[in-house]
Amino acid sequence: MDATSLSIRDFASQQLNSLLHSVHLGETADKSVELLSETLGPGGFRALNKTVSWPSDVADDNTPFEFSTAFAEGEPTTVRVLVEPTAHEPGALANMDAALDVLDTLVRRYDLPRDRFDAVRDLFLPADPQGAFSLWYSLVFRKDTPPAIKVYFNPEARGQAEAPLLVEEGLNRLGFGPGHATVVDHAVRRGPGMDRYSFFALDLTEDPLARVKVYISHFDATAADAEEAARAAKGVDPGRVQDFCLLSSGSTGPFTERPLISSYTFMAGDAARPSGYSLYVPVRCYVEDDQEARARVLDLMTNYDVDPSAFENALASIARRPLDDGVGLIAHVSLRMGAPRPGVTVYLSSEAYDTAPPRAMTLAH
Ligand code: TRP
Repeated sequence: MDATSLSIRDFASQQLNSLLHSVHLGETADKSVELLSETLGPGGFRALNKTVSWPSDVADDNTPFEFSTAFAEGEPTTVRVLVEPTAHEPGALANMDAALDVLDTLVRRYDLPRDRFDAVRDLFLPADPQGAFSLWYSLVFRKDTPPAIKVYFNPEARGQAEAPLLVEEGLNRLGFGPGHATVVDHAVRRGPGMDRYSFFALDLTEDPLARVKVYISHFDATAADAEEAARAAKGVDPGRVQDFCLLSSGSTGPFTERPLISSYTFMAGDAARPSGYSLYVPVRCYVEDDQEARARVLDLMTNYDVDPSAFENALASIARRPLDDGVGLIAHVSLRMGAPRPGVTVYLSSEAYDTAPPRAMTLAH
């Protein structure tokens, strides 16, 4: 691929198209690609060879999109893309407006319900948004179903200090008020700045299983801290958490580079306790290169009885360089536990702008 003459849209489209074909989701690839293009917003028309116009936090190299592939034993692979819509002239406010335009388009096209979005938007979308982003979307592609769409708000949109209040009020308004104390007791317990709310996410669907998800970043935490966080949710096996950390990162912490991240899933019927928990390990910070990250993922898959071939195909469809030439292509790995379906998800960076050189692990090796 010649990146010099391509737009962000073109580049994203080519990668998504290959990825979908690599895991047998190619049949509806044209529509999926169109959806991704639109979700990138007007900023998606910018040329990739120009300097980065907006420092998107979606990926380390500022690419405003990131792929992930979700696997579960005996289930077809799911492909997802996390997207930050950007404006023609990107900026905090301009991007928020662009992302709201995207929402209008998606709601109209797919006849999506927006009542839950509207119930909390005034909390998370102030006139002078702060923090790294205002709105991100996740597009989820599964076999034989229309794409599912999820929206992410930034709990720090009114500053870091306000985040706990925003999340508490957001949960309240969506009917999960009693869940807030459970989250705090298990996952926001290590003092100011150590456990920070990172995302507040909603499924935009009529499905009775529509979720509200709350994400918390645990700075300098250990696998034991994550295990404690997992205990908040129903139907999870917290004993798996430490193992997952060990297999994915090679240690049980403390994780002093990028943080471990927890997410809780609330669905209809959940009162005080969430019905799902996921742990995200930023594997790229704890390996030398992507060859090592791949080996970690393969170990995980063996451990969770997941056939690795879909992952191998997905990785090959995105990688444009030898795996030991850089680090960060495999950005996170996550363990999903509890309802609706347990499994392992691997996050794949586009590297549209840049590749990080392999890490020299002089002390660790
Ligand atoms: N790049 C950010 C991070 O690494 C946000 C992010 C993108 C993220 N994809 C993610 C966080 C997947 C957790 C899981 O934190």
